[in-house]
Amino acid sequence: MVYDLDMIKSFYSAYKGKMEHVRSVLKRPLTLAEKILYTHLYDEANLKDYKRGEDYVNFRPDRVAMQDATAQMALLQFMNAGKEQAAVPSTVHCDHLIQAYKGAGEDIATAKKTNEEVYDFLRDVSSRFGIGFWKPGAGIIHQVVLENYAFPGGMMVGTDSHTPNAGGLGMVAIGVGGADAVDVMTGMEWELKMPKLIGVHLTGQLNGWTAPKDVILKLAGLLTVKGGTNAIIEYFGPGTASISATGKATICNMGAEVGATTSLFPYDDRMATYLRATGREEVVKLADAVEADLRQDEEILEAPENYYDRVIEIDLSELEPYINGPFTPDAATPISEFAEKVLLNGYPRKMEVGLIGSCTNSSYQDLSRAASIAREALEKDIAVAAPLIVNPGSEQIRATAERDGMITLFQQNGATIMANACGPCIGQWKRHTDDPNRKNSIVTSFNRNFAKRADGNPNTYAFVASPEIVMALTIAGDLCFNPLKDRLMTHDGEKVKLSEPVGDELPVYGFVSGAEGYIPPAGANVEINVDPQSKRLQLLTPFPAWNGEDLLNMPLLIKTQGKCTTDHISMAGPWLRFRGHLENISDNMLMGAVNAFNGETNSVWNRLTNMYGPVSGTAKMYKSEGISSIVVAEENYGEGSSREHAAMEPRFLNVKVILAKSFARIHETNLKKQGMLAVTFKDKADYDRIQEHDLLSVIGLREFAPGRDLEVVVHHEDGTKESFAVQHTYNEQQIGWFRAGSALNAR
Ligand code: F3S
Repeated sequence: MVYDLDMIKSFYSAYKGKMEHVRSVLKRPLTLAEKILYTHLYDEANLKDYKRGEDYVNFRPDRVAMQDATAQMALLQFMNAGKEQAAVPSTVHCDHLIQAYKGAGEDIATAKKTNEEVYDFLRDVSSRFGIGFWKPGAGIIHQVVLENYAFPGGMMVGTDSHTPNAGGLGMVAIGVGGADAVDVMTGMEWELKMPKLIGVHLTGQLNGWTAPKDVILKLAGLLTVKGGTNAIIEYFGPGTASISATGKATICNMGAEVGATTSLFPYDDRMATYLRATGREEVVKLADAVEADLRQDEEILEAPENYYDRVIEIDLSELEPYINGPFTPDAATPISEFAEKVLLNGYPRKMEVGLIGSCTNSSYQDLSRAASIAREALEKDIAVAAPLIVNPGSEQIRATAERDGMITLFQQNGATIMANACGPCIGQWKRHTDDPNRKNSIVTSFNRNFAKRADGNPNTYAFVASPEIVMALTIAGDLCFNPLKDRLMTHDGEKVKLSEPVGDELPVYGFVSGAEGYIPPAGANVEINVDPQSKRLQLLTPFPAWNGEDLLNMPLLIKTQGKCTTDHISMAGPWLRFRGHLENISDNMLMGAVNAFNGETNSVWNRLTNMYGPVSGTAKMYKSEGISSIVVAEENYGEGSSREHAAMEPRFLNVKVILAKSFARIHETNLKKQGMLAVTFKDKADYDRIQEHDLLSVIGLREFAPGRDLEVVVHHEDGTKESFAVQHTYNEQQIGWFRAGSALNAR
């Protein structure tokens, strides 16, 4: 057993008493999110009814999870915190650094060689500070957390934006930057703005080709990529019971795509069944004893509009399969309209690769339903038109799928079985392609489809769908194929329809654990080595404190146009290898962002040379001359991942301010934690005033206070100047981080 039963026992034994205290103060019906949040307050004695969307609140999460690409920076910061041991159960998962190329065996062997120094560092730091370590190949962080650690009513943070996956087991699980994880691991309070609540009322039942994934694909279309910002999405209603625990996890996982703080489902039999199947009968007994408080109060179900900030209705019986994309996960299209959209927009119709798996969609149920389609293709002698790639979510899933014949079935359909790791989902895909300049389409069961995310190629049109739909489209090799109505040709020339997918929710003969992937911590005697010459790891030097002055005459480094996600700010793929080395990874800063003045990426005007050059090179030159700079951006800046490198890189390269139309939640917090100034236009039209050769000043920092606007003065090249107000969301504590140079400095 790798989970901490003692912690879970003490959690549940205290839960009832905590709930009574919450009820005695709030005196009103409570949503599930409120029950979990209010029972995890850092300062229970001063409990009050916090204003959603306004009040900052300090919490005490139960556990922390970190993936290898973000854990490096998190642990480098934790090492500077002066603690002997992580204050809460914490784990590290080696899933991001394995490149998908030839298949699991060879790829893991290669990863172990190329990342040896990083894996050793993560293992040793984990071991030294009491943190559990999951080896490369053991599985993807969120799948491993679901299989081992998530529990109903709990609260966790994870240094990955898809941490909300654990909401499938009724947990408030929130994606954060490494500095936030360090707060929790040092036993400090962890701060979050009290989220608003979006209630999603599910009625009806999933059926036929429709899968849990389609719930969130549809919702992404309704809410868009920022519609869930600073909100928890809470599902309720009779339809929840028709979705397995792993299906619920898929839905919660992709809540990240609408910017939600997290998503969660009420505790039910499907969760209990999953907990039992994964060896946690004890947790079921403990949860059953408090089950009424692991769900919304009955009064909420009667009049949800009185308790949620917004209520959305979805009838599962009417829900169609969806295909979302390209380039953004909220471009949602029901499959009945998708072929028309493909033709209308001229998307490359040929489906070139199908990819199944990732943390989002590699449960036993996902694989078994996709496998039922693969089986039918074999039985009916239908040729599979496109290559198939399968990334199992964990060694347990892989070993069980292998025992039950699914892996063989996929292979008989031409699949390459990659490592139990992120692979193509994070750009770790050494894809064979005849011509990278040719537009091409892929369909994945992953969660994100930003440009270049899967294979680094801007000409790849990536679409997101359920594993069932990915499998059907892979067989057809045609984006316009709709398995609900279209037919495929067998080897004998007969036209046949594929049957609706079927599959087991859980393995009839139980899970097989597969190869051992967990290393428990050894304790204080473990030695940690970081070679000063290393290109992969670099100990951190604290950022300098604010000098007490306004920020004057900063050159505009880049005014970005359109979407600027953390992938645009700090690209993944080949850059993942520098995630433990701030100086080296800073060379990728904003290289994917589009310069609003020339429409190009990684090409900005340098006022010292009067030439165009890469963003990071330009910032570096300014830094070497002691010049600070500023970045201007549009909506939802920093959307996507929790990687704090996207905040640390500009900080390291002397960018002092990010001025945007709006920010994504995790990224805005990351900027604040690293001592950056993250401000938004009061009037978004002021974005248009910024010219390429401008110098910008931010005035009013000596009076920097919560709720008080700052002023930006823009000095144009022709000698004229204009000014406008900008706003911010810093509270007193966060202003302290800015003054100290970072949250770590302010401890
Ligand atoms: Fe990994 Fe992709 Fe999930 S990068 S953690 S599989 S979103």
